[in-house]
Amino acid sequence: MQCLAMRWRRAGLRVGFVPTMGYLHDGHLSLVRRARRAVGRQGKVALSIYVNPTQFGPKEDFTKYPRNLPRDLALCRRVGVDVVFAPSHAGMYPHAPGGGFSTHVVEESLSRSLEGASRPTHFRGVITVVAKLFNIVQPDLAVFGAKDFQQAAVIRRMVRDLNFPVKVIVVPTVREADGLALSSRNQYLTGDLRRQAAVLSQAIGRGRQAVSSGGGRLPAAGLKRDLKAFIERQPDARVDYVEVFDPETLRPVRAVQRGTHLALAVFVGTTRLIDNAPLD
Ligand code: PAJ
Repeated sequence: MQCLAMRWRRAGLRVGFVPTMGYLHDGHLSLVRRARRAVGRQGKVALSIYVNPTQFGPKEDFTKYPRNLPRDLALCRRVGVDVVFAPSHAGMYPHAPGGGFSTHVVEESLSRSLEGASRPTHFRGVITVVAKLFNIVQPDLAVFGAKDFQQAAVIRRMVRDLNFPVKVIVVPTVREADGLALSSRNQYLTGDLRRQAAVLSQAIGRGRQAVSSGGGRLPAAGLKRDLKAFIERQPDARVDYVEVFDPETLRPVRAVQRGTHLALAVFVGTTRLIDNAPLD
């Protein structure tokens, strides 16, 4: 992959990159289309498929995370991806004598709250693998989804702090008709759980409604309490966190105002779902 990328660059071609963990859906494909638009017909679009073990916690779903490479490859062909990079674990995390893999990238500010608070080793795993992928694919630009708002913010920070010559583009969340954000993990939601999962986006709608009827300023604590109770009216929904925060610093705010962002993580049955949106 790295040799191919270097050939492309020497030929003066622009390279757009979409990192994924596979089991592709329309959210991923909207990233591919955005990458294509950015590099043009002459440019190249690379997509990686790698279920990265280091970003999963010990009790998380790494082993059962859905995988279907043949189907993913067919979708990539259909949307005009030029190369799919699907490395092995041994390729990504080589075992060297006397130590193995031992270098990590850690972001120490934006990655602490929200997902980082619930999943303490998650972002170290994410940004280390993204840094590796950037070095392998050497893209001019990389496209991420707003669905993982904090992930995009942390990667932007890493790119800036470590001088990666990569432009980061973030595209809007793609949703199902009932508002559920597309996710490979939606695969786990069977029967009534799928119906209950719509409560995340309903909670976002409810938050927005409260802010607009509150005249644009609202105490955060009351809103968070209300949304948690609203979500947990669903029999199988349990809130991990509901947070309102400044989208630049990702720090919680005490009063919701114009520009405040809402993020939530909710277990529906045993499936952990996340969603987020600005509150105005
Ligand atoms: P994955 O969950 O496969 O997501 C790959 C990319 O697709 C991410 O940028 C994510 O934000 C975006 N995405 C997922 N669902 C989306 C939706 N409904 N609408 C728009 N974009 C969506 O995120 C990861 O993989 C990994 O952490 C990765 C960055 C690949 C590092 O391992």
